[in-house]
Amino acid sequence: MIVKDKNQNDIMDQKLLNSFEIDYNFKNKPINRFNNKPTIENINERLNALKTKINNITNCNLKNNAKQLVFSDGNSNSPIMIVGEGPGQKEDEIGKPFVGDAGQLLNKMLSAININRENIYITNVVNFRPPNNRKPEPNEINRYSEFLREHISIIEPKILILMGSTAMEALFGSKIKISKERGAWKELIINNKTYLTMITFHPAYLLRQADQKKYSWADLKEIKKKIDALKLKI
Ligand code: URA
Repeated sequence: MIVKDKNQNDIMDQKLLNSFEIDYNFKNKPINRFNNKPTIENINERLNALKTKINNITNCNLKNNAKQLVFSDGNSNSPIMIVGEGPGQKEDEIGKPFVGDAGQLLNKMLSAININRENIYITNVVNFRPPNNRKPEPNEINRYSEFLREHISIIEPKILILMGSTAMEALFGSKIKISKERGAWKELIINNKTYLTMITFHPAYLLRQADQKKYSWADLKEIKKKIDALKLKI
């Protein structure tokens, strides 16, 4: 005589179900398959994977001469993302972008439009300090721009601010001049997604050329106007 297991008529045997170690969640309600907004956990996981990928770069003169990787600072869930050039001496020591003199000026520029830097997301084109703070070379900008594009795709900012010609060149190429391109909204497309982008002067340049601060101020006011128009919460 065959003795029937009492679970035989279940959709799945409970013991078998438990052995999969998967959290099955059977609900009577329909699932919203369109609600695929990335979670913070998902963003952090992808950022960590990108960080590891950059840290594992080989044959890189920047990495070979730097103390450590300088990846990012701030809130990875922010609608605002800033891209600078590359770490300087202090950033190389501390491991965070924009913590030296240029960083101090950046903080002041942001607070002039009521932004606390902790509430935005900050990174650089190259993530290792170039020797003697030289500008990254075109092949380096090119190589790291792959990582930068991935970084932007993970953060998905509503407003992207490119500070200085290196950030501009990494994403828009080297045939254009920052003095002509700054201050106007541009569209940057990465993986079929369009990012509203503003090119503006780098704070380190403003420390050397104080007479250019008036243009920078005009750009900041434009950014503030857009934040208000889009009702972004920062
Ligand atoms: N300049 C940059 O572009 N990035 C930094 O992190 C510091 C100085």
